[in-house]
Amino acid sequence: MNYQVVIPAAGQGKRMNAGKNKQFIKLQSKPVIVHTLKIFEEDPHCNGIILVINKDEQIEFEDLVKSYKIQKVISIVQGGSERQHSVYNGLKKVTDSEIVLVHDGARPFVKTTLIHELVQTAMETGAAVLAVPVKDTIKRASANLIVNETVERSGLWAIQTPQAFHVSILQHAHELALRDDYLGTDDASLVERIPKQVAIVEGEYTNIKLTTPDDLLFAEAILQRWEN
Ligand code: CTP
Ligand code: MG
Repeated sequence: MNYQVVIPAAGQGKRMNAGKNKQFIKLQSKPVIVHTLKIFEEDPHCNGIILVINKDEQIEFEDLVKSYKIQKVISIVQGGSERQHSVYNGLKKVTDSEIVLVHDGARPFVKTTLIHELVQTAMETGAAVLAVPVKDTIKRASANLIVNETVERSGLWAIQTPQAFHVSILQHAHELALRDDYLGTDDASLVERIPKQVAIVEGEYTNIKLTTPDDLLFAEAILQRWEN
């Protein structure tokens, strides 16, 4: 059940408001991206990491890969203006693998056991995502903040990464999206419109994406809990 992983890290981290790409924010003295890279470096089933970055941060990323001895990075490629373009650039560098994972650089807490469950499901079905049941009540509202409707919560899932695919399926999905000028917020949405079924593997609420400053509080708490 070996796989390669594309890690998009070429965003700007605007919502984090840290004055730099959030990948470089330190959690317990290690940059976020290093936490993420180590998960895959240490997983024996991962046989290649493709890191997608901003050109002007290339030296910083290369230095981190070197100093933290991340040996599975087979390519460091330049990202695009949207996450989807970054993933597509990374996807072109996948070699010699039947399964590809896409995993946000800003999601440093995914567990290896869940990665394996995800890969297994993708091998069987072609496409799978990690997700957790939505806990909040979700309402749709108009622009002037008046509630239009309460969305039925059962059947709603908050979708995470990693997302795992047969390489040929994800390539096809990205090519169709490019052709149609379709921009999705995750990779699975491109696969859904092929159309192709995407399976859900139930994950954990601790697999957060670091998006806003509050998330750093959760991140520190998660790391502390895991240490004890
Ligand atoms: N990403 C990327 N290329 C882009 C945009 C995003 O590789 N053009 C990456 C980010 O670096 C991140 C992941 O995709 O690891 C998820 O995106 P998001 O959380 O939105 O990160 P940013 O785009 O950096 O943050 P923001 O939207 O707040 O600017
Ligand atoms: Mg973004």
